Amino acid sequence: MVRVCIASGKGGVGKSVICANLGVVLSERGYRVSLVDADIEGPTLGLLFGYEHTQPTLHDYLSGNASAGDVVKSLSPTLSAVFGSVQLNALLKELELERLSELTSMLEQSSDLVLVDSPPGLEEDTKAAVRASEEVLVVLNPDIPSVAGALKVRILARREGRHILGVVANRTGGEYDIPPEELEAILEEEVLGTVRDDPLVRSSLVEGIPVVSAHPESPAAVDIRRLADRLVEKLIPPRR
Ligand SMILES: Nc1ncnc2c1ncn2[C@@H]1O[C@H](COP(=O)(O)OP(=O)(O)OP(=O)(O)O)[C@@H](O)[C@H]1O
Ligand SMILES: [Mg+2]
Repeated sequence: MVRVCIASGKGGVGKSVICANLGVVLSERGYRVSLVDADIEGPTLGLLFGYEHTQPTLHDYLSGNASAGDVVKSLSPTLSAVFGSVQLNALLKELELERLSELTSMLEQSSDLVLVDSPPGLEEDTKAAVRASEEVLVVLNPDIPSVAGALKVRILARREGRHILGVVANRTGGEYDIPPEELEAILEEEVLGTVRDDPLVRSSLVEGIPVVSAHPESPAAVDIRRLADRLVEKLIPPRR
């Protein structure tokens, strides 16, 4: 029904964590969610679910060696995912980035929501992730370098004719955080949610279980569920 690219410009701000956990929360609420790890050079989405090696991968699809049906992995009755290959040789193959849009369009037909985990940076791989979506959710940390990244990715998204759904401030709670109102003033976009810095996010990575499942009462899990409420309000019409 709708495809949302989770992007940031700057790397390491928490795109993949937000993507995986939103996917889990919304799928548990009965929405059909598909996740796509579009971080071609540094895929980590699978690791967040405890999958170190999956075959075939997005890379096989983009190189024409696997069909869409082959690469979609069912994680639960309402959550599916396409993971990338963590092996270096997958990158050496000729990849057709335009096929990413075909894949997300196909997934959209059987999903209420497709979440596309974007790579960092502003190169062709990020453009392909943005093009493969209608909406862009910008993730940042409440600091100046990451706001600069957010401003750049906002320009990229607009150039590609994509709509910015809003901003998520991740790893909040520090003494020197830029507050949400200031982020909104700088970016001229709504802050849809804030997610606190929480050591249990990192421990859930080691456990291979997204924090909303592994530690449902942790601060980050509580915040991500609230963010999911806001996304549903913005994106998904009420179910009959
Ligand atoms: N709210 C949080 N609290 C604590 N740690 C966090 C939080 N969100 C993310 N992290 C940690 O920050 C690191 C980067 O997160 P993540 O991989 O999701 O970022 P990313 O934006 O996807 O990175 P990349 O640009 O490399 O794809 C991870 O170690 C993750 O566990
Ligand atoms: Mg990532």
